[in-house]
Amino acid sequence: MKSPQTPFAVFALVLAAAVLASSTAAQAPQSPQGKAADQSSAPPPRSFPAPTNLKVLPKDLTGQQVRDIMKQWSASLGSRCDSCHAEDPDNVRPDGRPILKFADDSKPMKAVARTMYTMTEQINSNYIARLEGSGLPVTCGTCHRGHIGPEPFDASSQSQKPPMPAPPDQNRPASQ
Ligand code: HEC
Ligand code: HEC
Repeated sequence: MKSPQTPFAVFALVLAAAVLASSTAAQAPQSPQGKAADQSSAPPPRSFPAPTNLKVLPKDLTGQQVRDIMKQWSASLGSRCDSCHAEDPDNVRPDGRPILKFADDSKPMKAVARTMYTMTEQINSNYIARLEGSGLPVTCGTCHRGHIGPEPFDASSQSQKPPMPAPPDQNRPASQ
């Protein structure tokens, strides 16, 4: 019992499929164009000058690499660039914001940060790296946790809470 509508239904289906295919085909090249338009309206990537006064970080870091480390330090300490970097009194941005003299060493906090970096590197290379199956280096954030002065840990306020279960550890034997 063939319905007279069947050939039309098949035709309609083919037509629908063709329309769908052509519309996706038409859309496909639009998205890269859209992206290109987005990129051209975005500001060009900033370039950062190569560092001139590194005493503890590797001296061959690029300006961008130093910048990435500095963002990491700032976030780990919950601090801003000007906690460690002095303002340039003779040089202010048009919007009134100060310009920082990043290579200048006059802020004592910068010297503390150098000591802290060296300490962290030594903890990792002399101790953490020697642990069997070690994979979790100490970072500024391990101790600072978003505060420039690490908060004192009050063990007595923890005693009310049930003990934390040991984290799953794939690397180390369960006995340790
Ligand atoms: C906790 C202190 C601290 C904070 C916060 C900090 N810096 Fe630094 N910064 C340092 C230290 C220390 C050095 C020098 C490292 C060395 O001697 O190897 C440095 C070096 C630099 C340099 C290289 C200067 C040069 O020419 O030698 C730049 C650029 C810089 N910081 C930018 C920033 C920016 C941008 C921020 C904020 C996002 C920031 N810093 C936040 C401590 C800090
Ligand atoms: C092992 C724990 C530990 C690590 C890791 C650590 N810090 Fe610290 N940091 C401390 C302690 C504790 C103090 C407070 C020392 C004091 O007040 O005498 C401190 C103080 C500081 C201060 C001075 C704060 C103030 O108010 O005077 C700065 C700046 C600092 N650390 C930066 C860093 C940076 C940058 C890193 C990573 C490169 C780092 N620290 C890694 C424990 C740590």
